[in-house]
Amino acid sequence: MAARPMANLTAIILFLLLITIAATSAAPAPAPVAPPATKYINHTVGGPIGWFFNSTSNTSFTNYSSWAASQTFNLGDYLVFNTENQTVIETQNATTYRSCTADDTSDETTFVWGDDTAGKKTIAVPLVTEGANYYFSGSGDGQQCQQGMAFAIEVNHGLGLPPILNQPPLAQSPPGTVVGTEPSGSSGFRSGASLSGGLLVAFVLVLNV
Ligand SMILES: *[C@@H]1O[C@H](CO)[C@@H](O)[C@H](O)[C@H]1NC(C)=O
Ligand SMILES: *[C@@H]1O[C@H](CO)[C@@H](O)[C@H](O)[C@H]1NC(C)=O
Ligand SMILES: *[C@@H]1O[C@H](CO)[C@@H](O)[C@H](O)[C@H]1NC(C)=O
Ligand SMILES: *[C@@H]1O[C@H](CO)[C@@H](O)[C@H](O)[C@H]1NC(C)=O
Ligand SMILES: *[C@@H]1O[C@H](CO)[C@@H](O)[C@H](O)[C@H]1NC(C)=O
Ligand SMILES: *[C@@H]1O[C@H](CO)[C@@H](O)[C@H](O)[C@H]1NC(C)=O
Repeated sequence: MAARPMANLTAIILFLLLITIAATSAAPAPAPVAPPATKYINHTVGGPIGWFFNSTSNTSFTNYSSWAASQTFNLGDYLVFNTENQTVIETQNATTYRSCTADDTSDETTFVWGDDTAGKKTIAVPLVTEGANYYFSGSGDGQQCQQGMAFAIEVNHGLGLPPILNQPPLAQSPPGTVVGTEPSGSSGFRSGASLSGGLLVAFVLVLNV
């Protein structure tokens, strides 16, 4: 007689176990979405290979399009170009990108980062515009670009721009700054950002008076 309630209890436990297993396996698998951005990331272009062109083989050191496809880009991230003797042209104009030259462009989304001085350098380019952004080498009259020194990225919103990069749209910069040349290759701030830095300094000075 004592065996019956025990058997019932075992049955109930088994039943509950089965329900749990069924519920677990019936639950839909989570959709494979990109994890939400939790911090800003510096993407080293080409990884350890860097941003280089081999003029002997007439090819880029690596496939930069493949590299770009392996990354997730968000506002406020930086592209870090470790390179030598190179500049980087940034544009949001697909026509300019495909032509491998910024010479003909009249739009205000095209910038030249870095400078022409020889030697190793690191060019840090902040991602400040959502959507399609294009990068290419202007060296060799666009020939390096045609031979693989070029890539396109899609910039997601992520966390949005951090305050230091959250400047007025570049479209508001005065005419005549169609293609901006960054004076220093080491720290990449667009002219708009430097301008506001100056205003900030001016503001602090006023406070000190
Ligand atoms: C990313 O690069 C920028 C620009 O060089 C620098 O200010 C920042 O400290 C770097 N962030 C990290 C996490 O390395
Ligand atoms: C450049 O290309 C040449 C010819 O393919 C090759 O012999 C050389 O090792 C390459 N240089 C570098 C630094 O990869
Ligand atoms: C490298 O490739 C470009 C573009 O295809 C071509 O115009 C150029 O003649 C090539 N240069 C050499 C050294 O092979
Ligand atoms: C680079 O990789 C992309 C795919 O990511 C491919 O479409 C393209 O043909 C490759 N380019 C070269 C020069 O191999
Ligand atoms: C950079 O330029 C210097 C001086 O012209 C040259 O000696 C060096 O080989 C160049 N480096 C690359 C990676 O092109
Ligand atoms: C993109 O650049 C081309 C020339 O490279 C120019 O004709 C066109 O107006 C530009 N587009 C925009 C939206 O600025």
